[in-house]
Amino acid sequence: MCGIVGYIGHREAYPIIIEGLKRLEYRGYDSAGIALFDGTDLKVSKTKGKVVDLENRVATEISTNAKLGIGHTRWATHGVPNDINAHPHYSNSGNLVIIHNGIIENYDALKKELTARGYTFKSDTDTEVLINLIEDVKLKENVKLGKAVQIALNQVIGAYSIAVFDKNKPDEIVIARLGSPLAVGIGDNEFFIASDASPFIEYTKNAVYLEDEEMAILRVNKDIKIRKIKDDTLVDPYVQELQMNLEQIEKGGYEHFMLKEIHEQPNAIKDTYRGRLLVKDGIIRMSGIDDNIEKFLNANRIIVVACGTSWHAGLVAEYIFEDLARIPVEVEYASEFRYRNPVITPNDIVIAISQSGETADTLAAIKLAKANGAFVFGVCNVVGSSIARETNAGAYTHAGPEIGVASTKAFTTQITVLTLIALKLAKAKGSISNSDYRYHLQELELIPDKVSKALKSDEHIKAVADIYKNARNCLYLGRGYNFPVALEGALKLKEISYIHAEGYPAAEMKHGPIALIDEQMPVIVIATKKGHYEKVVSNIQEIKSRKGKIIGIVTEGDINVKELADHIIEVPETLEPLSPLLTTIPLQLLSYHIAVMLGKNVDQPRNLAKSVTVE
Ligand code: F6R
Repeated sequence: MCGIVGYIGHREAYPIIIEGLKRLEYRGYDSAGIALFDGTDLKVSKTKGKVVDLENRVATEISTNAKLGIGHTRWATHGVPNDINAHPHYSNSGNLVIIHNGIIENYDALKKELTARGYTFKSDTDTEVLINLIEDVKLKENVKLGKAVQIALNQVIGAYSIAVFDKNKPDEIVIARLGSPLAVGIGDNEFFIASDASPFIEYTKNAVYLEDEEMAILRVNKDIKIRKIKDDTLVDPYVQELQMNLEQIEKGGYEHFMLKEIHEQPNAIKDTYRGRLLVKDGIIRMSGIDDNIEKFLNANRIIVVACGTSWHAGLVAEYIFEDLARIPVEVEYASEFRYRNPVITPNDIVIAISQSGETADTLAAIKLAKANGAFVFGVCNVVGSSIARETNAGAYTHAGPEIGVASTKAFTTQITVLTLIALKLAKAKGSISNSDYRYHLQELELIPDKVSKALKSDEHIKAVADIYKNARNCLYLGRGYNFPVALEGALKLKEISYIHAEGYPAAEMKHGPIALIDEQMPVIVIATKKGHYEKVVSNIQEIKSRKGKIIGIVTEGDINVKELADHIIEVPETLEPLSPLLTTIPLQLLSYHIAVMLGKNVDQPRNLAKSVTVE
């Protein structure tokens, strides 16, 4: 995790870097730092806390016209969050300065070697070891910075994206990447560096994304030079035009990004199916599937790999693929899959789901699946991300940037893409009747309006949130398609409000969790019509007899649950496979309001980061 930003060119570096760090704070926010160099003076400022704390400190410590600078926002791996462990770090001579995102796994062995040669370390970080290794190589081999970085990185095991400069060489920054993302904005005789393109979007639309095991030297008034770290071969830079705009990455009048992103879902879902869902023609157009249709139709099974909320979207996909397309599906936590010697055959299709496209465990699971001959299909939101590039084919969710750390619109747009794929395969296999297929397409097209309607319950949900905001525990129950939604609802509550919450299949409650139920326990039950409605109503009765407080998520006009529950929240009616797209909405809002009422930092919950690029 961690966010890195850098600039070299003719503009004042400080505002670019500090604003850039704010946009990257979703990647980590336990400490931040900046180094600015005007060719003579090097100014470094670091602090525990958020970028705004750094900004306050810089205002009193630094005044500079530096045209070169690097900055970092940290999610601690080695060493507690404090001023000393915050980046940038420098070498013992004080000449080399580095920012780093990733983990150097063999840092301990390297540190021992360097210590034996007289190097000393101020921080507990692996990054300070790396910058001293680079310095050691530079001095021992008498080479320039670029070469020293290259030689040092060949001794390193782990993951990194780094930016390094040398006080004696004020016109260049050296960057490198393995396993952590790094984008370079190409301006007019200037370069921007960042973990994603958001920090430089208002300055240039031209970007190069470094691939793994590549490094580059960025020199003012020179073209970017990219080389392979291993064998020094030159690589042609592939300059992409960015589609992102500034408005998408600002709050647009909402108090939090999370709330903005919850309310963006009607449009985000439309953007996901735009150009793909052609209801009148009865066609779903997805080139990633069309080009590989035989592989999908002949697949033994689909294995979904993902983490967190994306894993929950994978569970919804399991229901819909098996139900409609009759293809067996297994859903795996990527972190387990990659280490448990799974049976993978060339007839398996692996679907990797990831909002960021950078999750380290998902990326590793993909590499394992590919090495075993499986065809890997990616469902990602971030265009050009590592997972999007590593997979054999894929479909973007087109949700737009998701900045709130708690995933919301990424989840519903992932489900939308997966539903499109399932319907397309069901049609191709003949496992769905023509009329059912058409009906699903029509209903899917109506979902954005129904999400808008579900969002209208906001005030009512806020009132419910007020009643339960001090609960210590919460139970979320759902069956069938809505079991994964129960898991997702519980995850949303715990990650932003720090209230303990668990999601369960409603019927499983009686095998243990029912013991927790008393008059203090709010139980959120998804009890929409169709599916297993009657069974869920029986489960509600079981909770009621144990005096649990029941919040029912029900279909508009429901009477039965209304009689039993303490509160109901209505969502519009739809087909059962599409219901997660609606039932998720009130659960997102409920978590949001509880967290706000408790005074929690909704967009940046403690200990979390948006993009988990460490295992
Ligand atoms: C929860 C959340 C995380 C992510 C998980 C995977 O709200 O955001 O659980 O879903 O870290 O991230 P991606 O989808 O980027 O691979």
